[in-house]
Amino acid sequence: MSHHIVEFQDVHFRYPDGTKALNGLSLRITHGESVGIVGANGSGKSTFLMHTNGFLLPQTGTITIGDQTLDKKTRQEIRKKVGVIFQNPDDQLFMPTVFDDVAFGPLNLGLSPGRVRECVDDALETVGGLGLRDKPPHHLSGGQKSAVAIAAVLAMQPDILVMDEPASHLDPKSRRALINLLRHFHHTKIVASHDLDLILDVCRRCVIIKEGRVVADGPAEEMLSNRRLLEENNLELPLSLQKRDFSPGGEMDEITKLQHLLGHWAEHNSEHAKTYRDWAKKAESLGRKELAVLLLKIADETMAMDSHFQKARELCR
Ligand SMILES: Nc1ncnc2c1ncn2[C@@H]1O[C@H](COP(=O)(O)OP(=O)(O)OP(=O)(O)O)[C@@H](O)[C@H]1O
Ligand SMILES: [Mg+2]
Repeated sequence: MSHHIVEFQDVHFRYPDGTKALNGLSLRITHGESVGIVGANGSGKSTFLMHTNGFLLPQTGTITIGDQTLDKKTRQEIRKKVGVIFQNPDDQLFMPTVFDDVAFGPLNLGLSPGRVRECVDDALETVGGLGLRDKPPHHLSGGQKSAVAIAAVLAMQPDILVMDEPASHLDPKSRRALINLLRHFHHTKIVASHDLDLILDVCRRCVIIKEGRVVADGPAEEMLSNRRLLEENNLELPLSLQKRDFSPGGEMDEITKLQHLLGHWAEHNSEHAKTYRDWAKKAESLGRKELAVLLLKIADETMAMDSHFQKARELCR
């Protein structure tokens, strides 16, 4: 699949009891984007995500994943590329042991038994769940189930990672580990959550869904600092932004907001620089010396921006 594009065009979906859950949803996500999906309870987020791998199929409208139109015939192929982690991990774990659950995807991809074991161990280690390997999933705690569900999807090495409330059962340390994991997943990721701090940490773009359609779409920092827009959608400012909301009327003034955003941008800046360095190392090991040198230059110049961000923050005081 060349560009891993996810495109929904005027998608409608009604559940068998008559509830209209998607109501003309259109959205285009391109390769490498990190997109947060937010909205009130019942706005259609999970229904939307369940369409990305054909778990549900649109009743009208079209969904394109990469260069394939999603339908009954293509959905098996599309599922190899789009890994969806459901809101409720119980919907995802159905085998006798954790090992079997995580191995299910790689086995279906036709990997050798040795390679399957490696994939399972790598994925479980990534989520800190190696010790759970031989347990029956129904004996796990909620957070452990979530970690295993995430491992089961990571083991398939999807091009597009889709997560529905991935942190809702996780303790703060596991939540932080998940955020770090997601930040280092460089393929396309789509994350629905009411944890707006997580969205702010992980996603550059944020889409607000209301009554089954997109009502706002833009840079995550902009969407998630717009108090009015959030309130219209039963949401609140992320906690990390609320803490800064100490001006007399309770409204965050624009300069305070900018000061926070500069901190956020600076944080992403040094992360990006680290990613460029990692890729420079890879390019070097592949014998692409000129590319490696250029990537290191990009990393250095990115880091140099830190002092500009710092200065701009000081000017906000
Ligand atoms: N299996 C189902 N049968 C009938 N209606 C359903 C079913 N699943 C969801 N719905 C309805 O579809 C609408 C959208 O639900 P959905 O689960 O997509 O919302 P959501 O945005 O994910 O909500 P939440 O924030 O609570 O997870 C709601 O009105 C819901 O009641
Ligand atoms: Mg949901």
